[in-house]
Amino acid sequence: MANVLTISGQKGGTGKSVIAVNLAACLALYEKKVLLIDCDPQGCTTAWTGRNDDGPGHDMASVFKGKTRFSDAVMKTKPQGLDILPAGFSLFDTALKLSDSLSNQRVLRLLIQEDAPSQYDYIIIDAPSSYGFLSIMALTAADWLIIPVCTGHTVTQEFHCLLKLIHYIRKNHKIPLKIGGFVFNRRHALDDTRSVLTAENMRRIADLAYDTHIPHDTAVQKSIEKNMPLVLYDIKSPAGAAFLNFAKEIDLKFT
Ligand SMILES: Nc1ncnc2c1ncn2[C@@H]1O[C@H](COP(=O)(O)OP(=O)(O)OP(=O)(O)O)[C@@H](O)[C@H]1O
Ligand SMILES: [Mg+2]
Repeated sequence: MANVLTISGQKGGTGKSVIAVNLAACLALYEKKVLLIDCDPQGCTTAWTGRNDDGPGHDMASVFKGKTRFSDAVMKTKPQGLDILPAGFSLFDTALKLSDSLSNQRVLRLLIQEDAPSQYDYIIIDAPSSYGFLSIMALTAADWLIIPVCTGHTVTQEFHCLLKLIHYIRKNHKIPLKIGGFVFNRRHALDDTRSVLTAENMRRIADLAYDTHIPHDTAVQKSIEKNMPLVLYDIKSPAGAAFLNFAKEIDLKFT
């Protein structure tokens, strides 16, 4: 059975998509079979792996509408071992229609359980920000929640809301969703982790934080502009090396 990890968090721009793409690509470099699912109508993850949603019939929205089988919408991408279920703006409209029923929040979880090819070691889901339907659906599909934390803002309020959201999902869908850890992103060399965490939540979050911090690195934006994961664009860049370490930590934790 694949480990299903959703990269989520309610703040926008913390690096959810960057981390989803690069974690998935690094795990594939470690010869894991990985499926990356783009759950955001912005389609960043789809674009950054060098794919597009290739028109109607080959994306997440058409799977939800029952027009395409899950396995037919999955596309191969690089590095070898990495597949993607792409998304584009049509997901916005489809999600609006699905959002009128509580049970539809489980639609992705059921699709993964019943229709996803069985070969994957990891299924990584890139969730959008906010508390909207797609975000809740992406969390409901997960076994584990990975939360990027950016330096420069405190996370106290976000952490409390996140705990409430996890409680909501566990209660309404009877699933054992767990926090799989916090990952610090866009770290500058002089940042102090403690400066972004208040004393109150420091202990809880520090226990759940990965040792690897992803540095702020201009190579990240350059790889995005080339529509490729950083490890394929510049594996020796500081963030590229950090993503490789982070993937190693993840793999140690989940296998
Ligand atoms: N480690 C990093 N170093 C430098 N730039 C970064 C890094 N991580 C993210 N970025 C920049 O931040 C931008 C936002 O990242 P990303 O799109 O992954 O955030 P997000 O949390 O997925 O956003 P959204 O909430 O819109 O889904 C990227 O386009 C990139 O330019
Ligand atoms: Mg994103």
